[in-house]
Amino acid sequence: MCGIVGYVGGSRSIEVLMEGLQRLEYRGYDSAGLAVQPGEGRLEVLRRVGPLRELERAVAERNGGFGEVLAGIGHTRWATHGRPSEENAHPHVGGDGRVAVVHNGIVENHAELRKGLERRGVGFRSETDTEVIAHLLAERLEGGASLAEAFGEVMEMLEGAFAVAAISADEPGTVVAGRRQSPLVVGLGEGENFLASGVPALLGFTHRFVLVENDEMAVVTRSSVELRRFGGEPVEREPFEVDWDPEAVELGGFPDYMSKEIHEQPQAIRATLDGRLGEDGMVDLSEVGIDLSGVERVVVVACGTAYHAGLLGKYFIERYARVPVEVAVASEYRYSDPVGDPGTLVVAISQSGETTDTLAAVDAAKGCGARVLAITNTRGSLITREADGVLLTRTGPEICVAATKTFVAQVVALDLLAMELGRSRETLAEERLRELVGELRLAPERVQEAIESVSGRLDEASALFEEARCSLFLGRGVAYPVALEGALKLKEISYLPAEGYPAGEMKHGPIALIDERCPVVALFGSGIHREKTLSNVQETVARGARVVAVAFPDDEEASGVASVVLPVPRVPETIVPLVLTVPLQMLAHEVATDRGLDVDKPRNLAKSVTVE
Ligand code: F6R
Repeated sequence: MCGIVGYVGGSRSIEVLMEGLQRLEYRGYDSAGLAVQPGEGRLEVLRRVGPLRELERAVAERNGGFGEVLAGIGHTRWATHGRPSEENAHPHVGGDGRVAVVHNGIVENHAELRKGLERRGVGFRSETDTEVIAHLLAERLEGGASLAEAFGEVMEMLEGAFAVAAISADEPGTVVAGRRQSPLVVGLGEGENFLASGVPALLGFTHRFVLVENDEMAVVTRSSVELRRFGGEPVEREPFEVDWDPEAVELGGFPDYMSKEIHEQPQAIRATLDGRLGEDGMVDLSEVGIDLSGVERVVVVACGTAYHAGLLGKYFIERYARVPVEVAVASEYRYSDPVGDPGTLVVAISQSGETTDTLAAVDAAKGCGARVLAITNTRGSLITREADGVLLTRTGPEICVAATKTFVAQVVALDLLAMELGRSRETLAEERLRELVGELRLAPERVQEAIESVSGRLDEASALFEEARCSLFLGRGVAYPVALEGALKLKEISYLPAEGYPAGEMKHGPIALIDERCPVVALFGSGIHREKTLSNVQETVARGARVVAVAFPDDEEASGVASVVLPVPRVPETIVPLVLTVPLQMLAHEVATDRGLDVDKPRNLAKSVTVE
């Protein structure tokens, strides 16, 4: 939540800062701002409430343009302390505007620090926790400290999770930045250097990066990057290269990132399988580096969409490896005094690798002696540094706030893990494993077919939601977690109340919601679950429900109860959740765009939830 960016270099400062912010906007869009050094001894700050386009407009309208600025910092905000307003927008300034600060995270002891500053006569202009940082820096700069000295000292006073960047009018051409828990990378250029909350922000400008670790800071000029601990001790760290294509963060002809990312799913699955399915028909997860043969219990921890992937993981792991699996919401698990031992494998799933609750759950798991495997899409993210082993999903950057391609990739990664656990525990016969691997290889093509076969029917399905006041998503077996995920997608981007339910639970309460203004989305897989879902759905139709059925094209009974059918290819059970998911993502997209909403940036949300 919140994105920060910094730049020191030549004439393209404003371009880098604005493009960086645009690529970080998924982290928050309550307000945005810049602070730049337009010349020696001066700082200029520009802030606007609302999405980044408001700041873009202000930059364009600024009389005379910025010209060549020496250094700058930028911020896109997801409000935590203080409502979205211009006063609360970052950057915040101290010392009569001679020092400016941007911040991602929460300063937990800000109230105490603020009281101290107020006692010393400092006046505050905002309700934010961040403003204390600006004033604390100003006090030290006025006392004669350099920006880097002052910054290190102030960082040591802060409690909580934060990534902060600052510039001072009196040290032109220098940006300092540091972090604890919240992410920060430095990008390396020729005659220019960069920093940002995440690698994707800078991909249009550089592919070489250096990580800043907890309690470290970077002093960045156009010709140097110096890493040190907050206390001042120098740190040496090798840069790393990122091979993500900058085009991966462009729209490439799609109207929004959500459609683009939905259409990228076949490729995301292919990339996640790549190199992990051997010629011999076996799974190869040796990269994980954890001995899976001793696993006696699995606990999956995750939030939101990743939690739904975890529920599917339980289904497959229990089936193939015959070990008990619990799936816990990370924000609950972290405070649950969890039970664990070296036989417990905790699988922490996080697209971003920086979700605060999931990271805290990892800590709690390690605290009770469990081993931790992280499934993440973000190489080098915080979770990869905390876990004992890492399994990367390889979808490329996901920009839309609502997760799509990373969900299917997480399900595929869990499928691989389930098969590998089954093999190492000898609960899955080689022949069956080969069969499953063969089925998984078909997933990219089948998901592509699902995208194509649903595309022409979305108008009709979306029409059922025009007058809707709520909706129910029903499934059983593997279709149940998919129903939860479908309901989450719809509610987060269309703001229409939607609940996912196991179809068999309808008669225990939710069926009371049913009337013609509560459409039902029913997921029909195959086998016993399909049959049972069919009778549950018939009961809703008898009470006036209008049904969107996601079903195999030859499922006449499912078509018989539905007002609209979204057909998906008939596939083996391993990949049923993948093909059932696609129509729900596309339906949510259609309903939200029909309502005129911005699908990529739903209200009140941010892509990475880096506060509790
Ligand atoms: C919903 C969505 C969220 C995330 C959740 C966890 O579309 O994207 O529910 O799944 O915030 O995020 P990560 O996976 O980054 O830990």
